[in-house]
Amino acid sequence: MSNAFDFKALRRFPDLEADNLVAVDATDRLVLAEAGPAIEAAPAGCVVVVGDRYGAMTLGAIALHGAQDVRVHQDPITGEQALAHNAIRVEMAGRFRHLPMTSELFTGATVIIGQLPKGLDALREIAQLAAAQADADVKVFLGGRVKHMTRSMNDTLGDRFASVTASLAQQKSRVLMVSDPLPEFRAGPTDYPLRQHHADLNLWVCAHGAAFAGTKVDVGTRFLLEFLDRMNPTAASAVDLGCGTGVIAAALARARPMLNVLATDQSAAAVASAAATAAANELIAQVWVLRDDAMSTLPDASVDLILCNPPFHLGTSVHAGAALKLFDAAGRVLVPGGELWTVFNFHLAYDGQLNRAVGPTRVVGRNAKFTVTVSTRRDNGPAQPLVV
Ligand SMILES: C[S@@+](CC[C@H](N)C(=O)[O-])C[C@H]1O[C@@H](n2cnc3c(N)ncnc32)[C@H](O)[C@@H]1O
Repeated sequence: MSNAFDFKALRRFPDLEADNLVAVDATDRLVLAEAGPAIEAAPAGCVVVVGDRYGAMTLGAIALHGAQDVRVHQDPITGEQALAHNAIRVEMAGRFRHLPMTSELFTGATVIIGQLPKGLDALREIAQLAAAQADADVKVFLGGRVKHMTRSMNDTLGDRFASVTASLAQQKSRVLMVSDPLPEFRAGPTDYPLRQHHADLNLWVCAHGAAFAGTKVDVGTRFLLEFLDRMNPTAASAVDLGCGTGVIAAALARARPMLNVLATDQSAAAVASAAATAAANELIAQVWVLRDDAMSTLPDASVDLILCNPPFHLGTSVHAGAALKLFDAAGRVLVPGGELWTVFNFHLAYDGQLNRAVGPTRVVGRNAKFTVTVSTRRDNGPAQPLVV
């Protein structure tokens, strides 16, 4: 079986779109080619896709290899949305279902395909769940760009599977092909979420594999937390924007027992981790979590205080855009007079952007690496001059 499928019909929307940004890459195509025969032999409901970027693997498995009732996990909510939009565009809606990164995703799977995650912890969580829950004869095909692949990925998969081999490279991509889950881990528990107690903050941090910083507390986050007692003292509602493991939400809720804090992130691993962190610190009455893209479902002018350690900027406009998107969202969601507290690498100089997106911005702290600013939401007036 191998029908034609026009990958060019796929788009990245609602993720950033530009001429040099693609919705399908060589890894998607190579994984589909390597896994094709296994997918064609799989019973309905037994093909699982992890880490599909915009839907090329899921829709390709259905269109090219006849996969039915595909189970899919995508960490960013925008990936889920892109797959849903693309499925409508190519008339394949309803032929797959999204599941969280839990046992149910992998139970009885005979084929697992996907993009290798960036971090080893994310790969370890997939390997542990898959080895425990998938069919004993499961075949796993995880691909990536050769330059991003390391020997440790083979070792991580080898901790749970007896057979790990690599395909030949094609167009700078390669596929790790994995089978024979180790019998001693069948139906067993996983290590996730990992838990660590930070005595200096008196906080437990819980982390699923794909959550930013794992169970560590990021150095920028730690610096931002030094300013908790200077933040809007009358705030009744607060948001930890881009919450990751929910460290900021938990620390804020702990410091202000009367304050309700929403921990929100686009990442499924992040919100699952933040929920676990809130529970581990006995803060579930104060902290609740929401998976959302840049607070898109929160009303305008509805929150008094937002704290944000924005996504990393790696020198490309794409990454800067991720932080600026959160600042724009804060400007929309804060009440007039509400505060956005943020931390960033001192060389980034986000002050001007914060001033434009939210309002007058003051630098309140600087150390060797980071700057902490507070921006006060202007009352819908024109942009104010930068205040430093
Ligand atoms: C630098 S990490 C900070 C995580 C956590 N607040 C901490 O301090 O450890 C930035 C976080 O922003 C999240 N993020 C990036 N873009 C986002 C968006 N559009 N909407 C919501 N969260 C986003 C990422 O998933 C990531 O968890």
